[in-house]
Amino acid sequence: MIISFEGIDGSGKSTQANRLVERLSGQGKEILYVREPGGTAVSERIRDLLLDPSLTIYPFAEMLLFSAARAQLVHEKIKPFHARGGIVICDRFFDSTVAYQGGGRSVADAKWLEDFQRTITAGVWPDRTYLVDLPVSTAAQRLTARFSEHETADRMELAGPEFFERVRTTYLQLAAKDPTRYFVVDGSKSEDALENQIWNDFSTFL
Ligand code: ADP
Ligand code: TYD
Repeated sequence: MIISFEGIDGSGKSTQANRLVERLSGQGKEILYVREPGGTAVSERIRDLLLDPSLTIYPFAEMLLFSAARAQLVHEKIKPFHARGGIVICDRFFDSTVAYQGGGRSVADAKWLEDFQRTITAGVWPDRTYLVDLPVSTAAQRLTARFSEHETADRMELAGPEFFERVRTTYLQLAAKDPTRYFVVDGSKSEDALENQIWNDFSTFL
């Protein structure tokens, strides 16, 4: 089974992905947790390129780099683990490319990107996708709080609020188009409330 978490930067999706991993690990389940871009030596190097704020990357090249990192991760880690029957939890998967490079950067339409992603992932597809939805301004406030503590903005986070509005709108369109795979949660709820809502859905889904 493959579960993915999606949402704009600062929506709280990594927090929820980690909480689901903890709950499942506590039950003794075999889990592979991966975050995109990254998760393999090659993909982590591509991640460094993609997030480096000193680089200017042409949008189509950006889409190919995210996709290359994903192809490596799918073939090296996700596919073998999935074939053994383990549960894979993905902190972002190909929907991020459709939302960010498709909706945010307009590199290609959603249908073209989805077909391309199916080729790249060799049909490896999430069974359930949790979209943590949050207004752009709230997500930005959360990120700003985090930056002042211990980190600075990466290359993607430097894109303006209009970019993230387009990404959010695209995510909501994807979710509306495929309600059997997507489960949308309101990211303005507390971390505990979201964890319980996702856990209840996941248990039913299982
Ligand atoms: P993402 O992975 O979507 O970028 P994170 O899970 O890293 O988001 O969360 C971004 C910031 O918001 C972190 O500082 C985190 O502690 C905080 N946060 C996460 N979930 C919530 C929530 N439900 N309510 C308030 N703050 C949250
Ligand atoms: P990351 O620090 O992992 O952000 P987050 O914690 O919000 O997931 O950085 C990943 C960035 O890359 C984030 O801004 C989303 C973006 N991204 C894309 O634009 N396309 C993609 O296909 C993926 C996987 C991520």
